[in-house]
Amino acid sequence: MIASKIKAAVRDVHDFPKQGIIFKDITPILKDPGLCKEITTALAEQLRGLEIDVVAGIESRGFLFGPSLAQLLGIPFVPIRKAGKLPYKTISQSYDLEYGSATIECHEDALLAGQKVLIHDDLLATGGTVVAASKLIMQLGASVAAYSFIISLDFLNGRQRLVPYGDQVFSLADY
Ligand code: PRP
Ligand code: MG
Repeated sequence: MIASKIKAAVRDVHDFPKQGIIFKDITPILKDPGLCKEITTALAEQLRGLEIDVVAGIESRGFLFGPSLAQLLGIPFVPIRKAGKLPYKTISQSYDLEYGSATIECHEDALLAGQKVLIHDDLLATGGTVVAASKLIMQLGASVAAYSFIISLDFLNGRQRLVPYGDQVFSLADY
């Protein structure tokens, strides 16, 4: 079962990046190419039957599996990046994190109006990051088809925050 394999591989790091936070470190997963392949396949299988035109992945950990998921689905990948990183004209959204705050951006020509977008990130915590990503996508006239995560920290109620933006929320391992 993929959830138990992910949970066995993930390393809990206490008090990172701040006191009281238990950080879910997914880097051990990346050392296991077989598990990486299983995760990419499982992410794609959850989406069966959904109409998706583009995968949008969120810097930086959404870039680990987002492009391979898009390649498996045979559709484009669009990077959503932290402020100041993208070279062309951008649109931006600020948001609160589990710890601190940040701004994300995408290129103004990243999506076409009407496109159905899968938002992919490694982990759903409070949902602030993907809510901001959803607003970026909607600014460009595209819509959120679904959300895809490797891990969901359900005790932080991120799923409820996503309800106004999209009702298809998938994750492979829930805590
Ligand atoms: C982490 C994680 C998600 C986000 C989840 O990213 O990778 O992107 O936080 O938190 P939320 O649901 O409360 O918004 P982080 O901003 O730490 O940066 P990184 O991916 O660059 O490591
Ligand atoms: Mg992140």
